[in-house]
Amino acid sequence: MTSTTPKKVRVPDLALMKQRGDRIVMLTAYDATMARLLDRAGIDLLLVGDSLGNVIMGLDTTIPVTLDVMIHHTRAVARGANRALVVADMPFLTYQVSPEQATRNATRLFQEGGAAAVKLEGGRAVADTVRKLTAAGLPVMGHLGLTPQHVHRLGGMRQQARSESAAQRLILDALALEDAGAFAIVLEAIPDTVAEAVTSQLKIPTIGIGAGSHCDGQVLVSYDVLGLFDTFAPPFAKQYAQLGQVIVRAAKDYANDVREGLFPKINTQQPTNQRSCRPPCDPSPNDSHLRQASPRIARLKS
Ligand code: KIV
Repeated sequence: MTSTTPKKVRVPDLALMKQRGDRIVMLTAYDATMARLLDRAGIDLLLVGDSLGNVIMGLDTTIPVTLDVMIHHTRAVARGANRALVVADMPFLTYQVSPEQATRNATRLFQEGGAAAVKLEGGRAVADTVRKLTAAGLPVMGHLGLTPQHVHRLGGMRQQARSESAAQRLILDALALEDAGAFAIVLEAIPDTVAEAVTSQLKIPTIGIGAGSHCDGQVLVSYDVLGLFDTFAPPFAKQYAQLGQVIVRAAKDYANDVREGLFPKINTQQPTNQRSCRPPCDPSPNDSHLRQASPRIARLKS
């Protein structure tokens, strides 16, 4: 089923989607090209996740990801997204020191990155910060359960809220985030039954990742969904394509053609170049447009 919300997705739409029983679809994005493709596919929310530390930067954890890096990628995703709501992760220790520090740092993600919302990890411990940000007009998404920025305290990337008491604490955290003004909460790697209990007790939507089918929406890391990240495959993620294999095949074919002298073809190649046709350029530009877009191409044409 495709999205039922053709217009631009805005923060209040998510509560309406929960009320209507429309499932919310979120994927991570880290650059403009991917954002444009996922937006075209009708994904409701694009999360510029600090998982970019893993899939883009090749790090073991999200902890070294900085605010400047997040702003850089958020700006790119915001340029590529037309309909989808762009949510940016606040990286490690950019919101825990004080609500004032959090406000300053979140503001940069909105002003410099073009985010429409920020996500931060934690429950009651960050509720005051969530209250301050939302009061300032900055929409906040919460994140509970397996919170990767707490990997060292949690002792690894493992399922959370397994005991009755841990489940109760998570429910209290979720209620505190809702009370503080969060507009949605990501529930990561918790038992289905706990996610179901949280989802039924909240008015705001829950978005699950490894948290079963009872959440109001689902999120996955796009590199997992597309089969681009083969270092580690989370057990709950489903691969809908194997783009890693497609890329290796294409790169091998290209390398072979270059080595065999099959590319470029002498005298048969058009002097146009994909690069000159990237949006916002016209896909079939006339010469004057080309001249503007790329002096190199214009030189080739004259
Ligand atoms: O950083 C991220 O990609 C996330 C999602 C996995 C929810 O936080």
